[in-house]
Amino acid sequence: MKEKENQSNKWVKGFSKLSKDEKIDWVTTRYFHSPDSAKKLLEDYWNKDSQLQLLHDEFIENAVSNFYLPLGVAPNFIINQQAYTIPMATEESSVLAAAGKSAKFWASRGGFSTKIIGTEKIGHVHFMFAGEAHKISDFIENIKPVLHSDTDSITTNMRARGGGITTIELCDKTDQLANYFQLHVSFETIDSMGANFINSCLEQFGDTIKREAIRYAPFSDEEKNIEIVMCILSNHVPRCLVRAEVSCPVEEMNEDKELSPQAFCEKFIRAIDIANADIHRAVTHNKGVMNGVDAVVIATGNDFRAVEAGAHAFASSTGNYKSLTHATIENGVFRYWIDIPLALGTVGGITKLHPMVQWSLDLLGNPTAKQLMEVVAVAGLAQNFAAIRSLITSGIQKGHMKMHLMNILNQFKASKTEKQQLIDHFKNHTVSFSAVENELLKIRS
Ligand code: MEV
Repeated sequence: MKEKENQSNKWVKGFSKLSKDEKIDWVTTRYFHSPDSAKKLLEDYWNKDSQLQLLHDEFIENAVSNFYLPLGVAPNFIINQQAYTIPMATEESSVLAAAGKSAKFWASRGGFSTKIIGTEKIGHVHFMFAGEAHKISDFIENIKPVLHSDTDSITTNMRARGGGITTIELCDKTDQLANYFQLHVSFETIDSMGANFINSCLEQFGDTIKREAIRYAPFSDEEKNIEIVMCILSNHVPRCLVRAEVSCPVEEMNEDKELSPQAFCEKFIRAIDIANADIHRAVTHNKGVMNGVDAVVIATGNDFRAVEAGAHAFASSTGNYKSLTHATIENGVFRYWIDIPLALGTVGGITKLHPMVQWSLDLLGNPTAKQLMEVVAVAGLAQNFAAIRSLITSGIQKGHMKMHLMNILNQFKASKTEKQQLIDHFKNHTVSFSAVENELLKIRS
């Protein structure tokens, strides 16, 4: 009975209409053993009464505080002969260090080069049509001018910037699902990610199809009754694609003491072959790529969930999930590259609203969306390079645990002097949770 009362106490109607303080009271008093300290933590993490806080509060519904991630910078990237310092927002200790190491390694070997393969974004009107395929095909051809004119006001600005709706095609999907057709629409959204623009065009297309079908004489009554199921962009953007690559003579890959340059390159390629042969390894391999990709995508205010979903779908485009990176040795040259779909924007969304996003874009020289795609692909390749290089030589834990040392020390609330003593100690010892605990106990006793 008491338990039931406790549970019903945790349901609320009209929560979004409460003030911020009321929301905080509601949640802290019902879900925390110590409401005061839960409340205090939320307060510590917000900038009371500042304009900045107002801005953050309005990004989402039901904001009760801020959630910080460290923002780091990775210098020494040479991309298409230009120097970059890349902003990265991440909680993972080793990501910035890995980026820095790869940047330095490749800076002395010609740097990274990049190429935009395509910028096509896609969206669909998914609908059901109970009739003959040739009739719906004629209908769509017939109404194409109306589809364009009905979206005129939505596309005006985008067209003025050189973008807009590129193609409109009907796809017959009835072999997958009875009566299922889709309007497959491609877009050029220039410097914006374009989600709102695309979805607005698609929803108008849905309305136009419905309206025009009713008036279309060749349709029977049943055929006139088209059901628009949904109108939405696709995050699978295989033709919004960028390549980043590096190459150098094999003999310059001479960084490892134990492996010859040729053996290092061959082992490196074998590591990628393994990812291509085994999904378990491929997912981890690509997760390492995304460590770099996401960190820049987040710092620049882009949608990392969209990028993640698109990248993994692309990695599966052969029907098997494979590595996003590739490497070859040809005529004594080691070549290593990534092809990755990236639907990014440098205008729109929160890019002009979030001060840290603006800071990150300033740091990158206020790039176009294409330039940002190039930088993000480089960050992904650099991260994968650092991971494979460690994995096939010293192993990953040496570097990882060194970077993780500070997290462990913070968990034990080590003082500044204790931290310095232990950082010195672990320069020559293997870091582990218990090794750090033991050393700290020794110091403290
Ligand atoms: C860890 O965040 C990423 C790695 O596991 C990537 C990889 O194994 O290639 C090190």
